[in-house]
Amino acid sequence: MKTVAWELCIALAAVAGVGAGYLLSESGTTARYPSNVPEKIAELPPGPKTDLIRYGRDLVEDTPRLIGKGAQNPALAYGGNNLSCQNCHLNGGLRPFAAPFVSTAASFPMLVDNRAIALHDRINSCVRLGLNGKPLPEDGREMAALIAYIEFLGKDTPEGVRLPGSGLMPIALPSELPSARRGVTVYAQHCQSCHGQNGEGARKLPPEIGYYVPPLWGEASFNGGAGMGQIAYAASYIRANMPIGVDHENPVLSVQEAWDVAAYMIVHPRPIAPAQGPAEPMIIEELPVSPPPDAAGGPPVQEFVPDRTPRPANAGP
Ligand code: HEC
Ligand code: HEC
Repeated sequence: MKTVAWELCIALAAVAGVGAGYLLSESGTTARYPSNVPEKIAELPPGPKTDLIRYGRDLVEDTPRLIGKGAQNPALAYGGNNLSCQNCHLNGGLRPFAAPFVSTAASFPMLVDNRAIALHDRINSCVRLGLNGKPLPEDGREMAALIAYIEFLGKDTPEGVRLPGSGLMPIALPSELPSARRGVTVYAQHCQSCHGQNGEGARKLPPEIGYYVPPLWGEASFNGGAGMGQIAYAASYIRANMPIGVDHENPVLSVQEAWDVAAYMIVHPRPIAPAQGPAEPMIIEELPVSPPPDAAGGPPVQEFVPDRTPRPANAGP
């Protein structure tokens, strides 16, 4: 049962990212957070480089149509769901603390445990986990386009600099252990009107593919290896960005509510993580919580956990 006018969600989604949040203090760097990016992209001189940047932007915003599970060209159906990059990387990867792409080109390759992670590895980590799909070919046009777009967004960020607003917003530890049970109430009050009673979100109307509001769990969602499936990242993301349109400087949810609703979101079933966990770095700027040791690791504490024990095929109901 859906209880909201979807027009409202759509309108809110459209304004999210406009206005608040873009003028961030510039601690330790004189580089500025990029502004007027759509206009700058529109003004680029014609040519193959511009085409690539624009295709990259389209891939981020209109992922399901181009490379999602339901891609128009089935040869490019790399995604295993119909999420778009932008469902998480809000506003085309420009929204502060929604893992924006403004410092990404300046941060990669990144050294993690003595292993250099290239930008294409990091992108493919999101394709495999966030999109629950198979990696994009490293030498393909789609990968080149995503990198061109990400480089364009970060063209004024000096090498090695993470602009304020990069990554996810730091969140304090909760005073009480995160409780999915308390999260039920937070979800009903702050999330359900858009994301639905069963976390199913709201699909776009055919022939369009993708979502006005993305699902938060279930088969159509990101898989269990995704950053968003880890409680600390989810709590941080949700507090800074949800309900959509919230100003990260004046969050609607308390710290405790964000952890509780994140716990509620991640105790639900979703596609299982691919066997090989992500070694790719997750960055919550100054998060006071150590990241989970591996992708398969669950949240620190849950009050209830779904039973995911596989049942024998011939078992009764
Ligand atoms: C007014 C509608 C609305 C409300 C209320 C809302 N969301 Fe969202 N949420 C969205 C939309 C729309 C997006 C995708 C934005 C886009 O594609 O630009 C989104 C994206 C997300 C994402 C990232 C995408 C994904 O599939 O994981 C998470 C996580 C999320 N919301 C969780 C929550 C939680 C938890 C709450 C309650 C605290 C909440 N949202 C409240 C509309 C809403
Ligand atoms: C289900 C949500 C989700 C989806 C869908 C998703 N991502 Fe991500 N992505 C994240 C989260 C969470 C992070 C981690 C933030 C961090 O490490 O700071 C991240 C990080 C990244 C980073 C590293 C950014 C940085 O500067 O550290 C890149 C690049 C990236 N994603 C690209 C993509 C692309 C391209 C797509 C679409 C093909 C995509 N993502 C889809 C959630 C998602």
